[in-house]
Amino acid sequence: MIFAVKRHAERVGERHAVQDRHAQGRKDALAEYPYEAAGNLAAQKAVRRCRCWAAPILSPGGSSRHNPIDRAGMLLSPSEIRTFLGVVHMIDVRVTKKHKETDDIYSFELSAMEGHGLPPFSAGSHIDVYLENGITRQYSLYNNIAENRNYCIAVLNAPASRGGSRYMAEVVQQGDRLRISPPRNMFPLQDGGDFYLLVAGGIGITPILSMASHLNRRGKNFAVHYCARTAAGMAFRELLQQAPFAGRVALHTDDGPLEQSFNPDAVIAGAPDGSHLYVCGPNGFMENLISTGRRLGWTDDRLHCESFGSGGVVTNSHGEAFTLRLVRSGLEFIVPPDRSVASVLNENGIAIPLSCEQGMCGTCLIPVVEGEPDHRDTFLTDAEHARNDLFTACCSRSKGPVLSVDL
Ligand code: FES
Repeated sequence: MIFAVKRHAERVGERHAVQDRHAQGRKDALAEYPYEAAGNLAAQKAVRRCRCWAAPILSPGGSSRHNPIDRAGMLLSPSEIRTFLGVVHMIDVRVTKKHKETDDIYSFELSAMEGHGLPPFSAGSHIDVYLENGITRQYSLYNNIAENRNYCIAVLNAPASRGGSRYMAEVVQQGDRLRISPPRNMFPLQDGGDFYLLVAGGIGITPILSMASHLNRRGKNFAVHYCARTAAGMAFRELLQQAPFAGRVALHTDDGPLEQSFNPDAVIAGAPDGSHLYVCGPNGFMENLISTGRRLGWTDDRLHCESFGSGGVVTNSHGEAFTLRLVRSGLEFIVPPDRSVASVLNENGIAIPLSCEQGMCGTCLIPVVEGEPDHRDTFLTDAEHARNDLFTACCSRSKGPVLSVDL
């Protein structure tokens, strides 16, 4: 018994020593990053990498128990912490409108605080919303990019919500103050396309709406196909039917007559040569569209997708078990087939900051030392995946039996 208690105390001591080294390493890493506004994707990713070290300091209401990064916070001077806060460029906004669009979809108009503007955005952009329950969620902006006083988002309160969308739907009210990130665009429209085929499934209509408004203003050629299970569950149906580009919109519902059913083969095959496809919706929906495009000979540079289901992508993070080796501390953990690296590390007292938990935001990035990651995220580019020097702990795994990381 005495031995067991002693061993436990030793383990706690070892863990704290690991956490201290970990924290100092993170502090050193922070010093390497530029304190720049997120003006382009590369800069945004640098900021993200900063955020992955600083998230618990920055996350209002986030859990900090046993968090080595809080220990990092204690190692930092107040001015350093202020610098980190400056890096992330959080924006305070007011919820100036909340509207129930369907039984389970709410729209929110977020307005700049008195005397402030909001950063401009491009069609296809989304923002992070930092909720007071410590959860961060990503939502596409659906309004016209010409509006610089408001951001408009829509939230599906799905039964499978892990807390973020439910909080937005049930707790956040008109008049509340929210904290958000500046917009960033992982789903941009390509310049110079002859024809844009915009396809939305369910709540995936949000970035498509903004894209359609933008293309219409620029006099571009495009078509919108919007699919939903039922007409009653179709958010923004009236808005689309009354839009200046209403003639370019086709609505498809599973409960409608057969002739209006969505036929991916016919829609993609019927688009003019050189068209670009933009699709947003549930994963299965997108995969079907993308694979149909490929089968019909469309090259990958003309196939673009982004998924926000009930607030995010449903990423499959399951796979073969493997050993995760932490080279700085010498610790090793088995990552079982049905657990993520982040959950195994967090369970063992090595806190990994998490935000989307779906491979979209990059908050959980960890440097890889040896081994080949099985990348499951959509945050890193193909070229970054190929470098295999970073991986997302919330969803990515290892292709081999051992993956060594810089922790
Ligand atoms: Fe967002 Fe892992 S938490 S990519």
